[in-house]
Amino acid sequence: MKKRIFLIVLDSFGIGNAPDAADFGDEGANTLKSIAASPEFNAETMASLGLFNIDGVEVGIPSYRPRGAYGRLFETSRGKDTTIGHWEIAGILSNEPLPTYPDGFPDGVIAEFERATGRKVICNKPYSGTDVIYDYGREHEESGALIVYTSADSVFQIAAHEDTVPTELLYEYCRAARKILCGKHAVGRVIARPFVGRWPNYTRTANRHDFSLLPPSKTMLDLISDAGMDVISVGKISDIFAGQGITESHPITSNSDGMAKTSAMLERDFDGLCFVNLVDFDMKYGHRNDVDGYAAAIAEFDGWLGGFTSQMKAEDLLIITADHGCDPGDVSTDHTREGVPLLVYQKGIEPCNLGTRQGFCDIAATVCDLLGVDSSEIEGTGFAERIKKMKINREELYNEALEARKNSYCPYSGYAVGAALLSADGRVFHGANIENAAFSPTICAERAAFAFAVSVGVRDFVAIAVCGGKKGEEPDPACTPCGVCRQVMAEFCKGDFEIILNGRTLTLAELLPHSFEM
Ligand code: THU
Repeated sequence: MKKRIFLIVLDSFGIGNAPDAADFGDEGANTLKSIAASPEFNAETMASLGLFNIDGVEVGIPSYRPRGAYGRLFETSRGKDTTIGHWEIAGILSNEPLPTYPDGFPDGVIAEFERATGRKVICNKPYSGTDVIYDYGREHEESGALIVYTSADSVFQIAAHEDTVPTELLYEYCRAARKILCGKHAVGRVIARPFVGRWPNYTRTANRHDFSLLPPSKTMLDLISDAGMDVISVGKISDIFAGQGITESHPITSNSDGMAKTSAMLERDFDGLCFVNLVDFDMKYGHRNDVDGYAAAIAEFDGWLGGFTSQMKAEDLLIITADHGCDPGDVSTDHTREGVPLLVYQKGIEPCNLGTRQGFCDIAATVCDLLGVDSSEIEGTGFAERIKKMKINREELYNEALEARKNSYCPYSGYAVGAALLSADGRVFHGANIENAAFSPTICAERAAFAFAVSVGVRDFVAIAVCGGKKGEEPDPACTPCGVCRQVMAEFCKGDFEIILNGRTLTLAELLPHSFEM
């Protein structure tokens, strides 16, 4: 059977408490904690997977019985940037952070770049991308000199007006810079930043292009694609790995676009890994210290995730994690050294606490193990053996429904129905139909069972067995839950909730595909 793994990186969604945070000047940084205080925050689906059950997470209410496997990962590499974080997720540990240039690039590097391009360099400082063209654009247009600037990240950025330096030529200059920037000056990315228009109304164009550093050794992406499987990039994954080991790439324009493209992958017949990065959390909100914006973006993702998990196929596996933190509630606008969440979901997964693990690379080892690829060439200790399917004893549950049916009160229809509802914590709630002389107040067996369970505080359910038919006769195979009962199930259960009937089992997604939602 084809195995599909969806690995989604929520860029910068840290959960705090990294033991080495102080080494990075990030003591106390906690992205989740900062955004959870916002009225915009909602993470119901991630909570149901176990987000608030993770070691060290102090916000939110832990799920009584999470639907997923959950854990916390600490980064081993000595860096807190996107590239190093993703490389570690893919199985590479980096002992050194990628170089940054708070005082600009050294004279030697600039001189070599000027020789290679035949153009002078101006600026050579950390700068905002829009300010830099406002402040240096005219000089650039007059002299043809290239605007080189950097940021808190490991980047060498070249801004040029498209009329002064045609885009293709700018890309060539980037390739020249990429060759020069090696060894101790191996910056994470060289970025072409073309712009158009007349000062002061310059605008940057979509011809931005990243020239990333090649990963220094094999990653899980190489191992998976070498094994003949698909490695599909959604978002900037392909850029981060300089295309290495990627078989197909889908750039995105926003988180919503990324989520739509990931949903579209559910419809696709692929075998291997779909590796997704959603960067808005970091780029639009984390770096701008926009707590409410970040919280709203998480709420948007979480809403999408509910639908995504219910549409996943039986063998699909989902992993959600992050590459570093970027606490929007702290004073700095930089990334923050933090632990990251690990949420794993598969239909019917046996919930478990994966604990605290050292090294994002445990994800790489696990993905390889699950796909049957030898992971000995990369770093990481896998946890694949912890990912198990929960066993539902359908026959036993059905027998409980038969038992419950004996309590049916059906003097008017003579049709007796029994239900046995299995909650995620393993309890079984019985229900039988209860009729009334005024037919409309009649209560179905399924709803009786839900009312029973919900009244005592249970909210997470796994399956319900239902049997009904003429009283005194064998249950009728045609008896399925009525529309109202399906809607009640949809209120508390996801699409993977099982309905065990006489002779067959259906999922709620099959029984009620477009439930009413408010
Ligand atoms: N009934 C149920 O208990 N569950 C259903 O989903 C369908 C119908 C009961 C209600 C009524 O007492 C009898 O079956 C005949 O409609």
